[in-house]
Amino acid sequence: MDEVVHKLKNKSTEVKNICCIGAGYVGGPTMAVIAKHCPEIEVNVVDINENRINSWNEINLNNLPIFEPGLDLIIDNVRGKNLHFSTDVKAAVMQADLIFIAVNTPTKLKGIGAGQASDLRWIESCAREISEYARGHTIVVEKSTLPVRTAEVIENILNSAETNSKREEISFDVLSNPEFLAEGTAIKDLENPDRVLIGGDNKNAMIELSKIYRAWVPEEKILFTNIWSSELAKLTSNAFLAQRISSINSITAICEVTSADVREVSRAIGKDTRIGSKFLDSGPGLGGSCFKKDILNLVYIAEYFGLSEVANFWESVVKINSWHQQRISEIVVKKLFGSVSNKKLVILGFAFKANTNDTRESAAITICKNLLNEGANLLIYDPKVTASQIENDLKTNQTKSAENYKSSLNEKLGSWEYSKSINNLEIFNNAYAVLVLTEWEEFRKLNWMTISKKMTPPAWVFDSRSIINTEEVKDAGLRLWRIGDGLEN
Ligand code: UDX
Ligand code: UDX
Repeated sequence: MDEVVHKLKNKSTEVKNICCIGAGYVGGPTMAVIAKHCPEIEVNVVDINENRINSWNEINLNNLPIFEPGLDLIIDNVRGKNLHFSTDVKAAVMQADLIFIAVNTPTKLKGIGAGQASDLRWIESCAREISEYARGHTIVVEKSTLPVRTAEVIENILNSAETNSKREEISFDVLSNPEFLAEGTAIKDLENPDRVLIGGDNKNAMIELSKIYRAWVPEEKILFTNIWSSELAKLTSNAFLAQRISSINSITAICEVTSADVREVSRAIGKDTRIGSKFLDSGPGLGGSCFKKDILNLVYIAEYFGLSEVANFWESVVKINSWHQQRISEIVVKKLFGSVSNKKLVILGFAFKANTNDTRESAAITICKNLLNEGANLLIYDPKVTASQIENDLKTNQTKSAENYKSSLNEKLGSWEYSKSINNLEIFNNAYAVLVLTEWEEFRKLNWMTISKKMTPPAWVFDSRSIINTEEVKDAGLRLWRIGDGLEN
């Protein structure tokens, strides 16, 4: 009962207890950094997935559910002190003055808006749980990236309950506080954000939330907006970033048929201070859990409001990304004399970018599936992605494509194997080609002279990330295809 008295009965009481629902790539690292900088605040991270919570509580920090450079050290310092991971949503919500919702919001697979709109069922169930268990006054913060006007849904659910399941009076403020961290650099991004965005219409609640960030973020980096601007800014930010990558990737195709080099083009345009040099690396196609989903959300919103030109504009960013991934798969087949059937190909990297174990929307999934459809035998290595994750990512297609395959080619579908390491270079034995799909640091240092001797000539290296030393590869007698490189083709 003491808790309730402390709880923000008086709306200006300071936040002392935080709950975060969703212990994923966003919730986990964000709460760890808050707990680090706000030792006086109790932070409870809850998740319905018991396995995930058990992994967050693992003594061996190598077994945390997500890999993020620097995260293990913070967890080691704050876990069990003011940072706790559990599946007890009810207890955490009851105690909390402020609740972050950081659950996933995948693209809807069925019904209205299928393939574009976000599935908000978990947001809704969180809001219902909060209205059932919360006590006193609670600030509820959207951390997940959501379609514009989702706060309204949350507010409606929360405000329809004036009392909780114990019939105590309750009240809420809803804020939007989108997270801009990128995986692989999450800790750096959280420690030193370009900005912290807080959207809302209750200044007091916004100030309470900003006080948490003020523990380490300079005041001028904390922006207040209305709630809809905050939601739309997050979608727009991801759409702009994704658009840059689709733009440069589209230029790779032009480079490859002329004698231009996309790295030189990137360098040259990046010197224009209006364009800037970041986010201009061409690659196998953008991936990750956010870009495609958020753009499709924008497309859905635009279509909903009858803005078909706007919808088409943004949709093209996603479409060209799919085309680009397809294009790379086709190049591999073409270079290997039009067939990869029964040929061993080494895949280096499966994560959607370096320094993460996340594979959501990874270009590697599409490219590997395409090559399996062509009958290739893949040997896949990624320093952080597990075999079971790859199995999960490639499984569905194998069944589906098996049918396609039988009907069209009547040949055997390819196969894949997982390799735990590349240390002894054995995985390259008798391979026809090596595909570099993720820019892991260790791939930059490979000894191509030794590798070349193990492969089946004429052997190819396909570098979709521009990280391989071109001279070494050529000196080793290997054939090289590099993304956006006109001279090599
Ligand atoms: C993020 C963001 O929150 C989302 O907005 C963004 O657009 C994509 O990714 P992320 O942390 O990467 O989510 O997702 P994920 O790693 O899947 O974590 C979400 C967690 O929420 C999962 O562990 C899931 O078990 C949990 N969850 C989901 C709940 O605890 N309760 C639910 O009702 C639903
Ligand atoms: C992105 C946004 O950057 C982040 O602000 C937001 O909060 C979530 O979505 P994330 O998806 O984790 O973050 O990674 P990001 O670094 O943006 O990379 C996304 C994809 O674009 C990756 O597949 C990456 O390899 C690719 N990319 C990125 C390029 O191909 N070239 C680049 O120059 C940058």
